[in-house]
Amino acid sequence: MINSVFQKWWISDTVAGNYKRVMYQFLQKIFLFDSWHLEPINFRPYAKEIVLATESYINQKNIQCVMEVGCGLGDIIGNIKVSNRKCQKIGIDREKNVLKAAKVLHPSAIFLQGSFDQCISRDETCLIMVNFIHRIPCDELKKEMQRVLLKSNVKLMVLDTFLSNENTVYEYSHCGRELFAGKYRCIRKSRGFAAAQGARRYIEYWEKIEKNS
Ligand SMILES: C[S@@+](CC[C@H](N)C(=O)[O-])C[C@H]1O[C@@H](n2cnc3c(N)ncnc32)[C@H](O)[C@@H]1O
Repeated sequence: MINSVFQKWWISDTVAGNYKRVMYQFLQKIFLFDSWHLEPINFRPYAKEIVLATESYINQKNIQCVMEVGCGLGDIIGNIKVSNRKCQKIGIDREKNVLKAAKVLHPSAIFLQGSFDQCISRDETCLIMVNFIHRIPCDELKKEMQRVLLKSNVKLMVLDTFLSNENTVYEYSHCGRELFAGKYRCIRKSRGFAAAQGARRYIEYWEKIEKNS
């Protein structure tokens, strides 16, 4: 109870966010990562929504591993609290400098350099991929998902989508039904969060359809 109150404060409070920003600026001087990462989770409501909703799902369903591809500093994966101590948290990013800082900030998680290739051979998993997939063409991401689904038992996929008629920096908005070849169903869609250039970002949660359900 106290833990969860502290966690919500730590990812929501403005003063805590400002403190983190100073710390991130300091780490940026050492590890030279991109300035995008300087905005802590406290000022990004979509990221808070993912932490709280995903954590509730994995703790209810006894998920064994939660992975985030494109994790950056680990603001999402690092803040997810797992009740099962055996549940691994794995952050994956193609930028090695940002991962060096993520390791300092979130020692409870494992960080790997790479991309969807690092998602193979994992069982009972949850996979988060947000705030970078809008740069990947739909057929390319679909191929990545086919490879992941062949080799990994992913129970829950978490992704961000945008309204398709918006002409913004969010070039591609993905459709879960096509991306996961009809093998998943959407169990939750968040409210729209303000994003760049007046766009709205939605967080979608797609659960694997089990044969006997
Ligand atoms: C804008 S940041 C978002 C970080 C995090 N997902 C969040 O929303 O808080 C995007 C991150 O995705 C990483 N990235 C971009 N394309 C990637 C890819 N194909 N595979 C793995 N990481 C990627 C970048 O290096 C960067 O750290």
